[in-house]
Amino acid sequence: MSASIENNLPGIVAECGGSCACATCHVYLSPEYGDIFAEPTEEEVDLIEYLEGSTGESRLSCQLIVGDADREIHVRVADSR
Ligand code: FES
Repeated sequence: MSASIENNLPGIVAECGGSCACATCHVYLSPEYGDIFAEPTEEEVDLIEYLEGSTGESRLSCQLIVGDADREIHVRVADSR
């Protein structure tokens, strides 16, 4: 989420600034990256559950903290309108 906002990329609104309260940072994350990020919290799962278009690959990008990952990570941005 931060990388998107800082680089003025379209699609990530991030109304709550990353506090896991708005879900306007919805992305689809391929399972191949599952080992890089922590499992979603109950709070994140609850928000995603009510999103239109959510799938098993849905994540809130503000909760995807990139640590020392040394490989490219691709996400698909969901429609946040
Ligand atoms: S920026 Fe609001 S939930 Fe991610």
